[in-house]
Amino acid sequence: MKLQNRSDLNKTIHLTKKEISDLSENLLKLHENSTVKEILNKTVNQDLFKAIEFLPARFVDLLIIDPPYNLSKTFNKLTFREKSIQEYSEWIESFIVKLKRTLKPTASIYFCGDWHTSISIPAVLEKHFVLRNRITWEREKGRGATQNWKNSSEDIWFCTVSNKFTFNPDEVKLMRRVLAPYRDEDNKPKDWHSNHHGEYRLTFPSNFWNDISVPFWSMPENTKHPTQKPEKLIAKLILASSKKGDVVLDPFLGSGTTSVVAKKLERKYLGIEIDKYYACLTEKRLALAGTDTRIQGYDYKTFWERNTKPFPIDANK
Ligand SMILES: C[S@@+](CC[C@H](N)C(=O)[O-])C[C@H]1O[C@@H](n2cnc3c(N)ncnc32)[C@H](O)[C@@H]1O
Repeated sequence: MKLQNRSDLNKTIHLTKKEISDLSENLLKLHENSTVKEILNKTVNQDLFKAIEFLPARFVDLLIIDPPYNLSKTFNKLTFREKSIQEYSEWIESFIVKLKRTLKPTASIYFCGDWHTSISIPAVLEKHFVLRNRITWEREKGRGATQNWKNSSEDIWFCTVSNKFTFNPDEVKLMRRVLAPYRDEDNKPKDWHSNHHGEYRLTFPSNFWNDISVPFWSMPENTKHPTQKPEKLIAKLILASSKKGDVVLDPFLGSGTTSVVAKKLERKYLGIEIDKYYACLTEKRLALAGTDTRIQGYDYKTFWERNTKPFPIDANK
């Protein structure tokens, strides 16, 4: 696409040849055992099966895994071919057993999958971790289907290494409009707040997420990566399951969303991505995150429903 012809509203992040050449200087390739210091806040541009061998043990607090789903799909120069459910399970287990070594005993793991492979993912995860929940993300995308129900959900499986782990529900509450604003006997709002913005309630997070859209062309986080996760979604995982300064690892980094959000939320990070263009996209996004730490849909340290106008909460109590 010629950039000069695109609308001013189109915020999709692109790379020039010069940027690819400059940003690739930042990328790592691991050929020998590395120390935590050498790899923190870096992007490794390598096949994860090679890179994992050289990672230190027990340094990761939060592991976010968003692998190619079991569909035939092209990621720039790499094409992932759909496998049988059995083969896909064997493939995911082959990297899980290797990644396990990098986790602290208190670490949490999130594993993303489509509805079909979700049939098999938890069985593999349960062999290695404590399986805790399934988050369902309602992602509105794609055309309608005439022969089947339109697919608009993805699963994110939540596990921990042990029963000792970080979980901060207060960090990921959702501000929702109140549809039935009940009042108590004294005519006071029951568990909700009213101000000139309307009536709203800060609600506890559930495992059904319908407040997050996929990145699209008018969002500053958008890239041409075909399966980019929204920053808002990754922010929930990071805020719920890590503390400032903790280490977040993403071995299928893609366009860099996990590392970018970890940086914005003051965590440390390491990402591994086989494709150089995507690894460079990550580096460009990380540089932008150095001056702009906003996460769309997460304002005033609060998550907001879609199509609401955020406002400073304390000032409106
Ligand atoms: C589902 S995408 C991840 C998208 C990412 N969460 C984002 O927000 O952009 C999976 C990524 O894994 C990468 N990948 C596939 N096989 C890999 C391997 N063996 N080692 C490292 N990266 C790999 C692909 O190039 C693709 O970018």
